[in-house]
Amino acid sequence: MSKERLFLNQTLPIVLIAGATSASGIACAQALHTAGAQVLAVGSSQTRLDERLGFTEGRYECDLTDFDAVQDLARLIHTNHGPIDALIHLVGGWRGGKSIVGQSDEDWDFLHRSVMGTLRNTTRAFVDDLISSTSGRLAIVSAEAVTNPTPSNANYGAIKAAAEHWVNAVARLFSKNAPNAAAISWVVKALSEQSPDLAPSGHTSVSYLAQAAVELLADRAVSQNGTRIALPRA
Ligand SMILES: NC(=O)c1ccc[n+]([C@@H]2O[C@H](COP(=O)([O-])OP(=O)(O)OC[C@H]3O[C@@H](n4cnc5c(N)ncnc54)[C@H](OP(=O)(O)O)[C@@H]3O)[C@@H](O)[C@H]2O)c1
Repeated sequence: MSKERLFLNQTLPIVLIAGATSASGIACAQALHTAGAQVLAVGSSQTRLDERLGFTEGRYECDLTDFDAVQDLARLIHTNHGPIDALIHLVGGWRGGKSIVGQSDEDWDFLHRSVMGTLRNTTRAFVDDLISSTSGRLAIVSAEAVTNPTPSNANYGAIKAAAEHWVNAVARLFSKNAPNAAAISWVVKALSEQSPDLAPSGHTSVSYLAQAAVELLADRAVSQNGTRIALPRA
């Protein structure tokens, strides 16, 4: 499929993957690169970025928990590439604990910083790019825990619920100011590096996530603004 046919509004959208060095980030980056997007990868280690994502158009080390650093990153990316069209946020991490009393402050602080902090920082730094794009896109990977709360997963589920709320606030902004943009929460129970036929039961192969990342750029994704989309699972 030609690049022109895949992306109807623009030929080479710029996609920034925040937290790109894990299996999920590499799978998304590869699929988007193959589909013809310009992929910019961000992570906390330049070495890991260069080792794992050497095929991308740009690799940027940045501590995404630090808003000043993210603002510097945005300025650098604007200078090197111009405004981005899509932000795929993949920084995560999981912490659980025994029942409600086992939901520790340390785990809450980690999840708040890693999941919510990096989502807030990246969206605040890049949302104007997404609004001014002809087809701005934002996506996160949320968790089934949001709608299936358990005591042992309360910290994690609460943070993921907050992340979805944040995405939906961006979606509302898009619906007012950027009618061709979309902000989406993909939902999985767990991700697997394995192919779909080998992934453990209930897990979503990262190849399905990568496929969703490519489909995110299609014009039809606009109709999904502000929605949760369950990804296929084994
Ligand atoms: N894995 C699952 O089973 C599962 C289940 C439900 C939802 N999810 C969600 O799916 C998404 C992807 O999951 P994942 O397991 O691939 O994520 P992950 O490994 O937790 O994070 C993705 C990448 O983020 C980077 N990162 C971490 N802290 C960073 C920071 N401060 N600044 C910049 N980059 C940072 C890490 O790379 P570096 O260390 O190289 O920086 C890591 O490779 C996450 O949002 C996660 O919450 C995952």
